[in-house]
Amino acid sequence: MSKLGLAIALGGVVGLAFAPAQADPVDDTLVIDGKEMITRVDPPDGHPFDEVLSGWLFRTPETRALETDTFANPGMLYVEQGEQIWNQVDGAAGKSCASCHNDAAESMKDVGAGYPKWNAAAGKPYNLELQINDCRVNNMQAEPYKFDAGEQKALVTYIKHQSLGAPVKVDLGEGDMKAWWDKGKDYYYTRFGQLNLSCASCHEENNGNYIRADHLSQGNVNGFPTYRLKQASMVSLHNRFRGCIRDTRASYPDAFSDELMALEVYVTWRGTGLSVETPAVRQ
Ligand code: HEC
Ligand code: HEC
Repeated sequence: MSKLGLAIALGGVVGLAFAPAQADPVDDTLVIDGKEMITRVDPPDGHPFDEVLSGWLFRTPETRALETDTFANPGMLYVEQGEQIWNQVDGAAGKSCASCHNDAAESMKDVGAGYPKWNAAAGKPYNLELQINDCRVNNMQAEPYKFDAGEQKALVTYIKHQSLGAPVKVDLGEGDMKAWWDKGKDYYYTRFGQLNLSCASCHEENNGNYIRADHLSQGNVNGFPTYRLKQASMVSLHNRFRGCIRDTRASYPDAFSDELMALEVYVTWRGTGLSVETPAVRQ
């Protein structure tokens, strides 16, 4: 669909104020507590863009500033909460995460940057949420977390934060990862909903344009879970995916369904080389 077509679809059907004005991502450097993040990087082979850009470059000066200072970043509260949960005994085995994994600053350093990851036993890719639930059930004899439980978001945020600055890298060589990547790619380019839009309609063909007050980015996932100012809360990746799908007036798949796991594999790959920014701050 052309840019004008998108404007009509969004303006006409949903009644949204859509400003087709193009604005470049800012030329700015993201330094978090003295550590420089990679926010622009050359894409991997087969990528549709010349340059992969972090969503941070598309945000307002105020939102960008919040992410540079861990004292100002409201997402850091979830990191602290995650650290407490890490050390809390739960389940019939009488163990905490720390009982086996000790200090997360060492055992989980840069681990989150490599997720989603092939899990041979499960025969599918695992994201951190699934890996944590696996450890809770099999290693702690505790209940798995329900999707978007506060503890789940805090623990994923805490573990991802141990990769702050590390470049995103998905290993497509393991197991059937490539087949999941293919499936995720198909989904990315499939139009859905009453608005008949695909992920690519917005994040590939229209990044740089405005929808409502939102400056459309490439839709990369390197900041997840992200703190969203609009929701005043931490937002998980599958929650964001579902929100984007819902905005096209389509029904959305379950969190951690094969569709959304495949999408996570593919979209994470699109952001290869960008620094993990968790907890990123977004609108
Ligand atoms: C009884 C020991 C035990 C406990 C308790 C435990 N784990 Fe694990 N965990 C393991 C083992 C063993 C592995 C590696 C093999 C596997 O995948 O099961 C692992 C793997 C992981 C991984 C993947 C690491 C990587 O390199 O990809 C993460 C993340 C993780 N655990 C998080 C947690 C969290 C969070 C908790 C607490 C909710 C927890 N674990 C509790 C034993 C444990
Ligand atoms: C109608 C347009 C639209 C469609 C279609 C759409 N999105 Fe989005 N998406 C947005 C807007 C607006 C935002 C918030 C501004 C931004 O970061 O781009 C956003 C944000 C995101 C983000 C967060 C980026 C960040 O830096 O935090 C991700 C990831 C994302 N979208 C993925 C997807 C995926 C995957 C699909 C397809 C299932 C999709 N989007 C479909 C409009 C859309």
